[in-house]
Parts: sequence; structure tokens; C-alpha cells
Amino acid sequence: MTVEPGTRVMKAEATATAAAVRCLAAGGLVAFPTETVYGLAADAGNGEAIARLYLAKGRPRFNPLIAHVADVERGRAIGRFNDAAERLAASFWPGPLTLVLPKRAQCAVADLALAGLDTVALRVPAHPVARELLASFGKPIVAPSANRSGHVSPTSASHVLADLRGRIDMLIDGGDCPVGIESTIVALLDDPTLLRPGGVAREQIERILGRRLVDAPVADDAPLAPGMLASHYAPKAKLRLNADAVGGDEALLAFGPSLVIEKGRPVLNLSPRGDLIEAASNLFSHLRALDASGAGTIAVMKVPNEGLGEAINDRLTRAAAPKP
Ligand code: TXA
Ligand code: MG
Repeated sequence: MTVEPGTRVMKAEATATAAAVRCLAAGGLVAFPTETVYGLAADAGNGEAIARLYLAKGRPRFNPLIAHVADVERGRAIGRFNDAAERLAASFWPGPLTLVLPKRAQCAVADLALAGLDTVALRVPAHPVARELLASFGKPIVAPSANRSGHVSPTSASHVLADLRGRIDMLIDGGDCPVGIESTIVALLDDPTLLRPGGVAREQIERILGRRLVDAPVADDAPLAPGMLASHYAPKAKLRLNADAVGGDEALLAFGPSLVIEKGRPVLNLSPRGDLIEAASNLFSHLRALDASGAGTIAVMKVPNEGLGEAINDRLTRAAAPKP
């Protein structure tokens, strides 16, 4: 992991937007103001940038990230909007509402940002700086709140610097965030469900939907009990961790120099050169591909428990847990 030596701080104006777009396109991390809280942006399609984003937040855990888009049309290219989603988007976007929807198969957001889930959280922010950044970048941006893991969300540039100075490439200072609390998150998968209260009040949403929201809080930055709603990706195959040999109907998920295996056995390598950032960016897509090979068990070679390895092992352990 290369932690950048310095964080460039720029006042919100056109030159800052242009610099931020170049930085994102090069795989960098940019903190920027939204109307709710400051976000930490990465190119939603760049798995390695997203891996570095989790690392920059410290104590990394692969929580799924919100994909920010410029308008509802771009959102429709990523998630599948039902009638309720269309109505909420029409009423509250741009603004502090995030919709969790089924993701489209050819979705432009990297598997790592979705933590392997089949759903995607989408939001069109209202802050002029965020809107300009999204319009200029022209692609979705994933952005968790720009704080260290476990800290409160930042609502000013100085909060961001206190947590992340030197760990991110750039910060656009747009002053204080007007709303000051995170977006409301509503899942529209079956019954409309309130995952996180936030900048749009429950009653406003219920009025548009003409029905009550079901309650189900997401645990932010906290370990989730198995079976909780912000569910985790789980392969159909069993997982066997710390494998140093393979047999039977096992597929191999390798890390670093691979075990020698016979021809025809499914194998994918998280990172042949043993790079944990690369490994993180491949984790969910490789698990899915090996699962699709029809193997009964995926044998996973040992991944060192340092840097992003901790988050990788956290997810592997959850995926290996017996299913309810
Ligand atoms: O106001 C906001 O939403 C801010 C600004 C920057 O946009 N962002 C923010 O992101 O608060 P974050 O990562 O701090 O919180 C996002 C929450 C996490 O609890 C995550 O688990 C949940 O959204 N989430 C994201 N994708 C999800 C999904 N597909 N299903 C369920 N929960 C999801
Ligand atoms: Mg957060």
C-alpha cells in the first residue's frame, strides 16, 4: 500500500474540479462536500482505487459503498428501478436519499464496492460541488463518509483533514455541509424498508409511497450479525480456508505463488504477486466465478492478516460460515 505523502487541499472552484477529475481518473482518492456530509470519492469502476479507499479509512472492512451519480438516468443504467423507486427519485433527487435496488448485470460499479452483493445503493447528491464533480467526471463515483472507520461523519473540511490528512490524495473544501447528517437509506427490494434514518424524514417518504416503511437499521462500520439485513455475499459452494492442498471437487482460490494442481481443476488467483490491494479488488468477482464453475467447495489459500488482508479474511470467514 502506498499511502500518499500529502493531501492537496483546494477551495471549491473550477480548477479544483478539474484536478479532482484527473485524480479520480488516475485511481486517486478525493474528499468532497455533499449536502449531507463529506464523502471520500473513488472511481466506481476501479477496483484497486476502491481497495485503497477501504484502507485509507483504517481498520478496513468491506462495507458496501453508495454509488453517486449525476442524475436518475445514469442511476437506471446501474440499478433496476421499480415504480416506488421512480417515485422517490422524482420527489427527492437530487438530495439526501439513497435507494438500495437490484443491480443490473452489466453494472459499472466494481464488485468490491458492492461487497459482492446483488444490490446497489444509489444517490444523486444535491450539493453544487458534488454535482459539478459528477458531471465533469461523467461516471459513477463511490463515496463513503470521509472519516476514519468508527469515527463520526465529517461535516467540514477540517473534520476530514483531522481524520484523513496524508491518507488521501485531495480534498475539495466547500465549507460546511448544509444538512449535516447522512442520507436516508431506503431499500426497494421487496417491502420498502428504512435501512438508515437521515436527511429525508421517514414521513416524507411514506407520504410519497402511500405506505409505511419497514424498519431495519444497517450497522455502519460495525460487525454485522449473520442474517442481518445488510446481508453479506455468500457463495453456494462451501469455503475451506487456509488450504495448502486441494482434492475432491474443490476449486482453488490462490494467493501469491499458487499451489500446483492438476489440469482442469478451476483455479483463480487473487494476486499472483501477493499484493493485498490487487487481491481485494479481485475477491468478490473471483469467488463468484469459482462458485459458477460448479465446484462443491472453494479451497482458499492463506491470506496474510495485515493491511487489507484483515478485511479480506473477515469476508472470507463470513462466507465460510455455515449458512442458516
Ligand atoms: O450521506 C451519505 O449517504 C454519505 C455521503 C458521502 O453521500 N455517504 C455515506 O456513506 O454515509 P457510508 O459508506 O458512510 O454509509 C453507507 C451505508 C453503509 O452503512 C452501508 O452498509 C450501506 O450504506 N449500504 C451501501 N450499500 C448497501 C446495500 N447494497 N445494501 C444495504 N446497505 C448498503
Ligand atoms: Mg460512514
